[in-house]
Formats: sequence, C-alpha cells, structure tokens
Amino acid sequence: MPFSDQPPLDRAAAAFRAHFARDPRLSAAAPGRVNLIGEHTDYNDGFVLPIAIDRRTVVCIDWSRTATTRVHAADLNTSAEFPDLKSLRAAPDLTLDIDNNRVRAGSWASYVGGVLSNLAAIAPALASRGVELSIASSVPLGSGLSSSASLEVGVAAAAAALAGVSIPPRDLAILCRDAEHRFAGVPCGIMDQFIAAMGQPDHALLIDCRTQAAELVAMPGADRAVVVVMDSRVKHSLASGQYAQRRDTCRAACRVMGIESLREATPELLARFAPDAGSSGGLSTIEHARARHIVSENARTLAAAAAFRAGDLAEVGRLMLASHASLRDDYQVSCPELDALVELASRVPGVFGARMTGGGFGGCAIALATPDAAAHLVRDIPAAYRVRLALAANPVANSGANLDARVFITSAQGGAAVLA
Ligand code: GLA
Repeated sequence: MPFSDQPPLDRAAAAFRAHFARDPRLSAAAPGRVNLIGEHTDYNDGFVLPIAIDRRTVVCIDWSRTATTRVHAADLNTSAEFPDLKSLRAAPDLTLDIDNNRVRAGSWASYVGGVLSNLAAIAPALASRGVELSIASSVPLGSGLSSSASLEVGVAAAAAALAGVSIPPRDLAILCRDAEHRFAGVPCGIMDQFIAAMGQPDHALLIDCRTQAAELVAMPGADRAVVVVMDSRVKHSLASGQYAQRRDTCRAACRVMGIESLREATPELLARFAPDAGSSGGLSTIEHARARHIVSENARTLAAAAAFRAGDLAEVGRLMLASHASLRDDYQVSCPELDALVELASRVPGVFGARMTGGGFGGCAIALATPDAAAHLVRDIPAAYRVRLALAANPVANSGANLDARVFITSAQGGAAVLA
C-alpha cells in the first residue's frame, strides 16, 4: 500500500464521493496493533499483551440503491463487487464464490466480503440490501501491524452501525476472525481482532485467549517510555503456509502429550516428553522447541504485565529480549532483518528492550525506550540498518529492492469507533 500523509478519513471520504457520487452516510475506523509480548500464544490458548496504535483503517459507507455491494479500496485504487451478500460463500477451495466472479482467498476483497457476509447472517437489513464502501488506511499493509484485522473490524463497525445492529466488541472480533479463517484462508488467533475492537487509550490489554478475559495494563507515561516501531520493510504473508505449519506443529505436540492445548503444558511436562528423555513416543525436536517457546512466552507475558504494573521497565525490556530470542531460536519465525533491528536498537542507551512483533517472517520489530532514546532510534536506525544489511556476510534471503527501515513512535489508542 503506498504510504500517504493525507489522513485516511480524507482519502476514504474523497474516494467515496468520486466513486459513488455523494457523501457517505457514516464512517468508522479501527486501529492496527503492536503486540508488546506474547507471540504465537493466542492460538495456543495463551496470553498476549497488545496495544492498539495510532494507525488506522477508515471505512466510509452508505446503502446501495440495488442489492449489489460495491467496495473501493482507495490505497490500492481498485474496486470489488458482490452481487448478493446473503448468498456469498467461501467455496471449499477458499475462493469467494461470487457468481462466476471468483475472488482469491487472501485478497483484500476476501476480507471485506467475508466480514459483510458474516454480518448479513445476523443483520437482516444487510441480507436484503447492498452497501457501498470506500476504504483507506494508514496501517502499512503486510508489515505485521495487523492491517487485516483493522480492515475487518473497520468494515464490521461501519456496516453494523449502518444496519443499526449493536454487536458487543468481543462478538464483533470473533465474527471478524471467523471471516479471516473461512474467507481469507488465514488460520489466525483472536489477538488482532480483539485489540482492534477493544483497545483502550494509554493501556495495553492482557488477554487470556482461553477465557477471552481482558485486563487493562497501564502504559508508562510518555515522559518515561514510549513504543518505537521499526518496519523492516520485508513483506510477510501469513497465508504463505509457515503460520499454519506452526499451528499444526503445536497441535501435534498436544496430541503427543495428551493435552487439549499448549496452555496446559509446563516445563516439567516438556521435560518428560523431551526427544532425549529416553521414552518412545516423545516429542520430535521441532515439536519440543515450538512447545518450549509457547510455555516460556506465556510466563514472560504474565511477568511483563506484572512488571509494567510495578513500573519495572528494565524487567519489561529483559523479557522482550528473551521473547525475541525464543521466537528466533525455538519458534523460528524471525528473519535476519528483524534480528538486525532488534540488535541495533538494543545497543542504544535508554532502550529497555526490543523484539519482533506479530506473526514474523518479516514485518516490524518494536522497542520500548526513553523519549531521548526513541528520538535516537527514529533518527539513526534507518542508516544503521542499511549498513548492516549491506555488510551481511550472507546476502539475506528475504531482502528485496527497498529496505529502508521505516521507524516511528506510537502510543496506545482506543479500539474501533464510529466517527463523528
Ligand atoms: C498474527 C495473527 C495473530 C497472532 C500473531 C502472532 O498477527 O493474526 O492471531 O497469532 O500473528 O502472535
């Protein structure tokens, strides 16, 4: 998605007027997110600690005059049409079956169509009438900042408001996650939709993904510490298979240990089923490493929430670095570019800690830093990153043409809302 300085609301509203020849009836927005710690734990019934950020997807909407739903994505300058939301289905091969006009699973239109189709099943007005929407976002696409969930939740919030149905944020998040599973073909966890729907200003959410209970954790004041996002510019794709593979390996590990989810695993259980424990029917080396990440990451996430509450930012930073090492070595979802960003940032005085955030295989790293150190990172990381990649002994597999790291400071914001 081309990065534009023009606010997404202005771009979405202008696109609406240009394509549908009137003003939108209403607009809604949903934020992207940064996960402070607790990675790949959500689909293992574990703990996560995300914040909603000040990058968001804005959706302008009105009823259509016919049954046809039309969507225009301003950032991509492309449109899609769904003749009838009620009978929109995710076909078995995970293409969206819109008459003969098939939409590829994982395309932006499959996210929008999936959410609208799920909503039409519970909002009678949407089952009989089409809608027109325009979309613009300041969440960079495919950067691990959850552009997909902000799109899903933004579309859901706008369409639910238009149809006059009030859906509790938790249910809205689940409806969106279901759309991502069935229509976009990505077997994601609940974290991204949850924080996009339920984020709170100045707070992180400690989410127990087993019970879906969420506790507020106050962020430190901006005079003490801020969150810095460092985009490696390596595009990641969760639909590419590695994400689903991690999920499958975790399930396989559960079957070996006779448990429902890795939430029930403990260091003792892992030791009992270790590949070298001598007993047959143990975990494979890979299963053991993946499970060890989940068990240790759950413990780190709870410890980080406690450390934030105690104001112990040095401890939060230590846990962030340990999380990154575990994602790199045990879960193997980092990449050389993310490792470089984490290492470069963690050397700067005043940086408490750094780690990759989101699904991995590219995307963003984050740092928790004093305001002075944060300014330093914004100023100096792009050049240091360029030099580091140029000097890498092995040309980095993922590196594409444009690897100018994009570095910015963010803060915890509220979740999805209808805009005034
Ligand atoms: C992606 C998924 C989330 C979560 C993270 C990893 O962002 O959408 O559900 O699994 O990866 O923590």
